[in-house]
Amino acid sequence: MPIHWFPGHMNSTRQAIKDRVQAGLDVVIELLDARLPGSSSNPLLAALTTGRPSLKVLNKQDLADPAQTEAWLAFYNAQPHTRAIPLDAGDKAPARALIKACRELAPLRGDMHKPLRVLICGIPNVGKSTLINTLVGKKAAKTGDEPGITKLEQKFVLENGFYLFDTPGMLWPRIAVEQSGYNLAASGAIGRNAFDEEEVALELIATLKRRDADRLRQRYGLAELGEDDAVLEAIGVKRGAKIRGGAVQMHKAAEALLMDFRSGLLGRITLETPDEMAAWRHEAAEA
Ligand code: G4P
Repeated sequence: MPIHWFPGHMNSTRQAIKDRVQAGLDVVIELLDARLPGSSSNPLLAALTTGRPSLKVLNKQDLADPAQTEAWLAFYNAQPHTRAIPLDAGDKAPARALIKACRELAPLRGDMHKPLRVLICGIPNVGKSTLINTLVGKKAAKTGDEPGITKLEQKFVLENGFYLFDTPGMLWPRIAVEQSGYNLAASGAIGRNAFDEEEVALELIATLKRRDADRLRQRYGLAELGEDDAVLEAIGVKRGAKIRGGAVQMHKAAEALLMDFRSGLLGRITLETPDEMAAWRHEAAEA
């Protein structure tokens, strides 16, 4: 496994979610990265909130392939007690879609006497603070990520009878299969010290060649796509990662490619399909 990921412990987060379930919880919103919905999901959340309706928000949809987002939405919408909606930070009225979906999931709640109690969770960098700020309309405090430090749950009243709760602590990603590690690293969800950028970039090239070879060719003006490391080298040449004497600094080339992917300069790309994710999980379980 090339991703050396040792996230902080999640005891405070786990406890905060348990406390919310006990205090009353009607809908769980899991914020996912639309470019890697399966890999950015944390099974701990489902385990702790069993039986509660779930809203999957495919965030950053502006960076994801629209057809693949449709496929993931259909995948989640086919699951019982589950709804899925796409969102991005540019959405002018995210609250409308989110509130409507939550109300449909728990139709018996949501008035002054029986408020709808909704918990929002997501792995780091998925866009939770951005979304909460937009929903709440002012700068909301960012939750801490220091293990062992318990911060109080935050409650936001989005409209009469609609309470949104934000957990303290971090819902760290769980790397269940190797490809999830690569996809999470490529997306920027895990710390850069936890992985070798060159290795992640090579894996990204392999995925892009499979999925969107034309984008690679066009973005970097490559007539031919050779072996993955030759492609990375060619990207380095195009992106000015050469040192004196002409050799390409491969880590600089890798950094440039990852930056281009994360910022959307490569276009709208989704790294995994529901079928692929299922196959990876199956393989991992068999191994
Ligand atoms: P978190 O609380 O879940 O950790 O994530 P946060 O809101 O801090 O967002 C992480 C990064 O993702 C931020 O970029 C944010 O602007 C970006 N982001 C959030 N939602 C969306 C979205 O729907 N689409 C796109 N394209 N980006 C989104 P950053 O570069 O880390 O910070 P900054 O540039 O906003 O300062």
